[in-house]
Amino acid sequence: MKTAFRLVLACLLVVGLSNFVLAQDKANTVITILVPEKGQEETKVKVNGKKLKGEGDTRVFKASLVKGKDYKFKIEALIEPNNYTKITRYKEITVKGGDKAKVDLTVKNPKTDKIVVRWVPTPDDIVDAMCKLAKVTKSDTVYDLGCGDAVMLIRPIQKFNAKKGVGIDIDPKMIVKAKENVKKAKLENKIDLRVGDILNVKDMADADVVLIYIGDDLGERLSPVLQRTMKRGARIVSHRFLLGSWTPTKTTTVKGTDGFEYELHLWIVGEKKVEKKKQ
Ligand SMILES: C[S@@+](CC[C@H](N)C(=O)[O-])C[C@H]1O[C@@H](n2cnc3c(N)ncnc32)[C@H](O)[C@@H]1O
Repeated sequence: MKTAFRLVLACLLVVGLSNFVLAQDKANTVITILVPEKGQEETKVKVNGKKLKGEGDTRVFKASLVKGKDYKFKIEALIEPNNYTKITRYKEITVKGGDKAKVDLTVKNPKTDKIVVRWVPTPDDIVDAMCKLAKVTKSDTVYDLGCGDAVMLIRPIQKFNAKKGVGIDIDPKMIVKAKENVKKAKLENKIDLRVGDILNVKDMADADVVLIYIGDDLGERLSPVLQRTMKRGARIVSHRFLLGSWTPTKTTTVKGTDGFEYELHLWIVGEKKVEKKKQ
């Protein structure tokens, strides 16, 4: 009995002593995180996978950590600039316990930012107007980057006799829907569909026409790949959104059968903007 009592006492002493030493060694560690100003929603921040409470363009993470020891942090921001775009931006840093650090997540990172735009379909008559603007012919392979339900692949083939269609979408459910529609249209042998992030597309050399409806953020990121890899004379038509600072060859507005106006942009690879002559 006496031995057991001594053992418990010794354990308590060891635990108490180590706690005391650890407490002595710990210090406040502070990471200040700068995030973009509120867009559609307040930016959400996570530190090592855990939500950090707070609002506004500056968030503060505090922890009591062993002084001088290295700690790794993955800081993530979910940014919603508008009601259709979600951007995930992150940085990894190592901070010593007791130090202060600053992380700036307001700056775009073309290498690691993940950008996803939600599905909003382009009306059939507007797809037709896009095909007319792109002058789709029977020798054309048409791509839709962010293809949704495949409307921008089915109509160019059905109405404009395009040779082939290729669609990529990040959402597997959209690809299932696209495949159903392609099957209904009996175009399985002419349209290839795959799940993927269009920001991983490296080469668009086999496209004659690219039709897109993807938002300004995705467009800006995709622009260098299209400019660098598409063949001279290939056409890109975008519903509403631009491709960063690449000036369109032509911009036009069409009225839909729904009564709304739609802005469409055309780029002809290798050609400069067509200036309108003054009367
Ligand atoms: C605005 S919808 C356009 C759909 C179709 N092109 C149309 O105009 O009817 C955008 C589509 O792009 C897809 N998408 C969004 N971000 C993407 C990404 N990073 N990579 C591939 N597809 C993406 C969405 O799942 C959605 O289906």
